[in-house]
Amino acid sequence: TVYDCTIIKLDKHHSDRKGNITVVENNKDIPFEVRRTYYLYDVPSGESRGSHAHKELSQLIIAASGSFTVTLDDGNVKRTFLLNRPNQGLYVLPGIWRDLDDFSSGSVCLVLASHEYDEVDYIRDYDSFLKFKQK
Ligand code: TYD
Repeated sequence: TVYDCTIIKLDKHHSDRKGNITVVENNKDIPFEVRRTYYLYDVPSGESRGSHAHKELSQLIIAASGSFTVTLDDGNVKRTFLLNRPNQGLYVLPGIWRDLDDFSSGSVCLVLASHEYDEVDYIRDYDSFLKFKQK
């Protein structure tokens, strides 16, 4: 359910002079192995991304810069998270519909994913998603 999807607080190694660094290691900071990384950027103001679910894919979604909201939906309950810190990630389990909105200017949405890209893993139609959840 959406209650299994949580904000994972990531370490921030801070230097007064040199700024910050945040590290994500497989099976240590996050509960899956990363097989793919991608990032969304230059999302025009007012545009939305996502609007799909995955059958098998786990993801960690990070606002590497700026901010945006992620609304998760398990077919019963919706929860909206504001991501606005590079040292926090939203852990999204398989079988959850997600909508990404309200991208701030210059924001970067970094996604760490458990599998390579596979269009067959996507559910892009909301009614199909509800049917998938009933199974
Ligand atoms: P999509 O996941 O639908 O974008 P979003 O959920 O961010 O709105 O992907 C958009 C397009 O990019 C899609 O048609 C296929 C392509 N794509 C890849 O080729 N490989 C990938 O790993 C991803 C994430 C997308």
